[in-house]
Amino acid sequence: MSLSGTRLDVMRFVGEKIDVSMDEFLRPADTNWQPSDFLPDTTKESFLEEVKLLRESTRELSYDYVAVLVGDTITEEALPTYESWLMDMEGVEQENPHGWSRWIRSWTAEENRHGDLLNKFLYLSGRVNMRAMEVSTQYLIADGFDIGTGKDPYRNFIYTSFQELATNVSHRRTATLAKQAGCNQLSKICGVIASDEMRHAKAYKDFVNQIFAVDPSEMMLAFEDMMRKKIVMPAHFLRETGVKLGQTFSHFSDAAQRLGVYTTQDYIDIADSLLVDWKIDSIAELNDAGQRARDYLMALPSRLRRVADRTKVPTLEYPFSWIAG
Ligand SMILES: [Fe+2]
Ligand SMILES: [Fe+2]
Repeated sequence: MSLSGTRLDVMRFVGEKIDVSMDEFLRPADTNWQPSDFLPDTTKESFLEEVKLLRESTRELSYDYVAVLVGDTITEEALPTYESWLMDMEGVEQENPHGWSRWIRSWTAEENRHGDLLNKFLYLSGRVNMRAMEVSTQYLIADGFDIGTGKDPYRNFIYTSFQELATNVSHRRTATLAKQAGCNQLSKICGVIASDEMRHAKAYKDFVNQIFAVDPSEMMLAFEDMMRKKIVMPAHFLRETGVKLGQTFSHFSDAAQRLGVYTTQDYIDIADSLLVDWKIDSIAELNDAGQRARDYLMALPSRLRRVADRTKVPTLEYPFSWIAG
């Protein structure tokens, strides 16, 4: 897929205002939260006692819950894949310290804290077979993935808008469930990550909005194309040792559905919210193809809802290699 001159012009145009977006949607490192703010301090006398309390606090977390949290962590840990994917978008100049490459690097730097924090917490919890989890992480990064965007920034920004909202939902729900299980520290951890994801979602949605303002038909076609393909979660490519590709994800996804951490209904709600946020129904100056794409998109949530009503989530618990004991 090679881009038209228009797309490159649009990327340049939107990229010129990136410093404003950085100030609005990202936080400076010195004042931003860091993983150690939420973990026992190894330099303190009280460290071992705090670890003991941490371990006790995770006892009530269910099997499905721990499995989902491990899957979430691995997904966050595959950040090198996402950064390299975004850096490869047309309109991004790696050697340019400003503009889009600056955005992608700074976004990556914020995201990097998520896997770091969750990984350390899980390590201390004693609930996880860390080696199995680490193997899955290595697999996910080594395998890479194809999310159906190509090098097209329009498709990539649809993907990241969706993905940031999806991770916001799932981290928010794991925060709530942790609190219900009496694990306040983990609840805070998931909550603070969820709020990062929301800030990032706002940024990517803003980029799409800006593109809609100058290149509405092409942006609409990109949105339609991504939704026709379905937004594939990075976790889709999860693997465990000796398990066939695709199986680990489907069990992870079933566990997330059973817990209500991320469901088919959430997928539809996110699609719906994007239609509203981008005011898809009232975007002007669409060509014929753009109009047809809009018609498809506007009808999508209700069509997905009809299918979702008929699908059942399996109750079977699957023995993930990630869970200790
Ligand atoms: Fe994240
Ligand atoms: Fe994110």
